[in-house]
This record gives sequence, structure tokens and C-alpha cells, in this order.
Amino acid sequence: MKYPKEYLEEIKLRLKVSTVVSKTVSLKKRGKEYVGLSPFKNEKTPSFTVNDEKEFYHCFATSEHGNIFDFVMKTQNLRFGEAVKQLANLAGMQPYIFSKQDEERENKWKVYSSIFYEYINFYHEELLKNKDYSIARDYLKNRSLDSDQVKKFKIGYIEKNPNFFEKLKNKFKIDDLLETGLFYFDEKKNIYLEKFRGRLIFPINNISGQPIALGGRIIEKKDFLAKYINSPETFFFKKGSNLYNLDFARKLSNKLESIFLVEGYMDVVGLSKNGIENVVANLGTSLTDKQILTLNQFFDDIIICFDGDESGYKAAVRAAENSIKELKPEKQISFLFLPDKEDPDSFVNKNGKNYFLDYSTQNKISIHQFIFSHYKKKTLNNPSSMAIFEKKLRFIANTIKDNFIKKYVLEYFLEKISDLTPHSNNKNKNYFIKKTKSLETTKKSFKESEALTGIELKEFSLLYLIINNLELLSNHFHLIENIKLFTKINKQIFEEILSKYKENKVIDKNNLNIDSQLIEKLTKFAPIKHILKNKTINDNTIIELLEDIKRDLNNYDLEFRIQELESKFSRDLSETTFNELKELKKKQNLN
Ligand code: UTP
Ligand code: MN
Repeated sequence: MKYPKEYLEEIKLRLKVSTVVSKTVSLKKRGKEYVGLSPFKNEKTPSFTVNDEKEFYHCFATSEHGNIFDFVMKTQNLRFGEAVKQLANLAGMQPYIFSKQDEERENKWKVYSSIFYEYINFYHEELLKNKDYSIARDYLKNRSLDSDQVKKFKIGYIEKNPNFFEKLKNKFKIDDLLETGLFYFDEKKNIYLEKFRGRLIFPINNISGQPIALGGRIIEKKDFLAKYINSPETFFFKKGSNLYNLDFARKLSNKLESIFLVEGYMDVVGLSKNGIENVVANLGTSLTDKQILTLNQFFDDIIICFDGDESGYKAAVRAAENSIKELKPEKQISFLFLPDKEDPDSFVNKNGKNYFLDYSTQNKISIHQFIFSHYKKKTLNNPSSMAIFEKKLRFIANTIKDNFIKKYVLEYFLEKISDLTPHSNNKNKNYFIKKTKSLETTKKSFKESEALTGIELKEFSLLYLIINNLELLSNHFHLIENIKLFTKINKQIFEEILSKYKENKVIDKNNLNIDSQLIEKLTKFAPIKHILKNKTINDNTIIELLEDIKRDLNNYDLEFRIQELESKFSRDLSETTFNELKELKKKQNLN
């Protein structure tokens, strides 16, 4: 008995080849592929590659080649059925139980599929060629769509009084025809009618590219007709499981990281016409977990871009609350809001591909930022409203399945809330405003020095030490070579000194090319000068002091990078960023 293709496809969809292979072979990422030591041969240099996008592995040493099922069969010496069972289990699916119904279903699929093929091809050809259909072609021309798009999306047109049913009836059983959802029986008139008559039709394909449903648009405005209608659910078409254009867009996942998720057929077609082909539509229904998971199989970055009107915004809120549950480390979901009254189709047609992509990069916001700002807008500045706000955000964060992401989204929300409630937030965030211990000289200069940041004062001390010990340090160049400064002017001074050293020039204070006012300023404020006063100075103390300052500056550097990463992390919540952050914090503690 054969496993139904969809069941096998579902397993493949849930399991990347690299996921399966890496259970037994240690893989390293190289570009879009993975490489590792061949499991089919003893080798020292890796000749085994895995390509998730193409869904296969290949061993250059032995020419072994195949998909996940082949891999498990060959490496574990299993039969096909056993491999399927094992992989289904790994994919979190129920074992497949064969029954008579399965056989029927398989046969049904064959019939269903061939009806769809015939139907779609017929009306597609009609749209392209039938001379009576100029009304449809004119409509497309008005929307500036040419035959390239019509062909790519296999768009068709069904006349108002079609008689294709009669032809199909000779070839297929009436019940089978009815099960496709393309036709229905009109009891009053006692005839079979085509559901999509008088409409342009957009085929919806399953992930392998086989048509399973239709969307149909009227071309003449009639208020009593819905602008679009979609196929009803059938045996093979379940709403909320499919995405329009996924079969095509997924093939781009080896080139592109992100996928645009839009509302409508025409958004997909319009973006594609403008050269943006990594786009799918959920077709006006609300976005499901399943759709998000499917997109994440192929793309790390989902950009949800609904229409720039109220209903688009509402749909975005719903989509955000639904999909945040599925947020995973390394995956991002963001939202792109278009100007009022625009949808992706109109916006890209007006502005072109590059503008659209730039607009997207600059304006997309990540899902947790969107959720926060949406609920914040609805919150008033009173205790009860604030309490509801916090509760809602906590609730949403708690729906997230991945514990790691849950923790950080919650932390992000709470941090943002604590920014709104400064009195209960006494964390000291003013790291850089903290003063270094500067010994008081005169009250006046203390006041002036107060305007300087701790880091500037540190840099002054460093420069003061160097400028007053130029000769000593020319013998210890390695000590100062790699110090990082932050303030622009101090950096310039420092670089001037370094370049003089590098030129091997004998330098003294007076032939440095530095504004004497700057030297005065730093001499006046460098806190170290007070320390030097109270010490017996020798070369060693100078070097010790220099090393102290260097360590402090390194810590500032770390702190800067930590802050940068923290803000990056609050945007992307990625595990990579988190790990970098952890490393830096560890380093900071060591210093
Ligand atoms: P829109 O009304 O935004 O349509 O609905 P559109 O895609 O921008 O199309 P044009 O440019 O007017 O031709 C978005 C999606 O919502 C579904 C369709 O899937 C549509 O593509 N919809 C819309 C319906 O199912 N029924 C409707 O009556 C309207
Ligand atoms: Mn629209």
C-alpha cells in the first residue's frame, strides 16, 4: 500500500534534511548548504553535503544521493515503511494507518487533481486566446497586467454563461465534479452551474504546485456580488492551511531570507510584476499558526504587510496575537504598515521595487514592538487602564510556546512598562553619566568638569599620561597601540600621537600637531593629574596607571557594545545575538 503523497509531503515539510541528517552526522553550515563527513565512507575531509532547499543530501565520495527517507533507510538499513514511521514520529505526526478509505482518498485525489488541471488550463487558454473575452483582457490591461503575469499565475477567465460543465460531464462523474467545489446544482433552475462564472480566476496551488482551489474576481462592479469569492473547503483544500503562491515563493528561500505575507491575490501578482516574488497571501482569512509554521520552514523572516486601512490594521493585530505564539529563536516576524488607503499592489505599482524594499527595511517593526505599541495606544494614564495594559501584555507573552522567546518578550514588555512608570523604576541606567572619581581642586573647575562625561575624563587622563611621558611610551608602544577611544576630538589627538610614533619620529609635547587649547583643556581636567601629585612617580607607576585606564576604557567599550546588542536583541530576539551578549557580559565580569 502506498503512503499518500500528502502525508509524505507533510513529513518533508516539517523536517529539514539537515535536521534529520544532523542526528547522526555533524554538519557545518557553508553558504546555503551544510557539509560534514560522509556517513557512507570513512573520510577525513568532508565530502557530504546537505541542501535543505532542494530537499536532498549528496555525497561526493560515494555518489549517494537522496531525500530524508533515503537517508534513514540507507544509514539505518530500514525499509521504506519503517523510515516513514520513524520520521513521522520525529516530525510529531501520528503514524499512518492504512485503510480502505486511504485507497479511496488516493483515487479521489487523482480524479480531483485532473479535473482541476483540465478546468484551469481550459479557462487560462480561453483568457489568452478567445476573441470574445476582450472584456477580461481589457480589464487586465487597465490594471497594467500583461500576459507574463497571466501565464505565471495561470489566471483564467470564465464567461458568464459557460458550458464547460457539459464537456466535463462526459469524462468525469457528476459527484466527482461537485466535490471539487467548482460547480453546484441550482435547484430552482434544475441545472448545474459554475460557481466562478463571470469571474477572473486565480488558481491556488498546494505546496507542490498542484491546483486545489480557486479565487475569483468580478470584473464589472456589481454591488450585489462579492468582489472575490473563494473555493469552499473540499477534501483537499482546507482554509488556513494553504497560502497563495507558496509553491512558487518557497523556491526562493535559498536566495532570500524574508517572505512578504499580504492579504490579496492582486497584491501577490502586483508585487511579482514589480520583481518582488518572495510573497504569499493568506487570502482575507485570519492568519493561522499552521501558516506561520509553514512559512518558517522556508524563511527566517516573515514580513506581514496588510492593506493600509482600518481593516488591514485590525487584521494585523489579530495576526500578531496569533502568530507570536509560534515565535522561535532565529526567526523573526515583523509588520509593515503602508500609508493610508494603499495596499501592497497599489503601493508597489506607484513606487517601484526599490522604493518598496527600502520602505520595508526602514518601516517594518517587529512583532513584539507592534503589540506593545498597539496596546499602549489604547491605554490611558490611569491605574486601572495601566493595570489592564500590563495584564494583557503578560497574557500575550505567556502564549508564546518557546520558553526562551517567552522570557525575553516578557522582559521586553516589562522593561517598556517600567519606562512608563519611572517612580517604581529605580534601576540606575545612567552608566555613562556616572562620574569617575575626580579629586576636587577648585569649585569652578569641578563645575566645569561636571559637564564632561566619565568617559571623556578617562580619555583626558589617558592622553595626559601619554603626552607627559612621550619618550617612555615610545619604548612601550604596544601598550597604547590598541586602545579604543570614544570621543571624537580625543580620538583625533590620540591618532595623531600614534601616527607620529609609527613614523618613528622623535616627538615631544611641542611638535604635536594639536590645538594648544585642547591640550590646555585636558591638562586642566584630566583627573589623573591629582593622583600623580600624591605619588612618587617612576616609570612603573606610569605604566601601571596607564594599564588601569586602558582596562577601564575597555570596559566602557564592552558596555557600549553590550548596550548596542541589548537593543538589537530587543528588536530581533535572536539566539545568536543573545549568545554574543552573554559572551560580552562574561568578559565584562572578568575585567
Ligand atoms: P481586497 O479587497 O484588499 O482585494 O481583499 P485586493 O486583493 O486588493 O484586490 P483588488 O486590487 O481590489 O482586485 C483582499 C483579499 O481578501 C479576500 C480576497 O482573497 C482578496 O484578495 N476577499 C476580498 C474576499 O475573499 N472576498 C471579498 O469580497 C473581498
Ligand atoms: Mn487590497
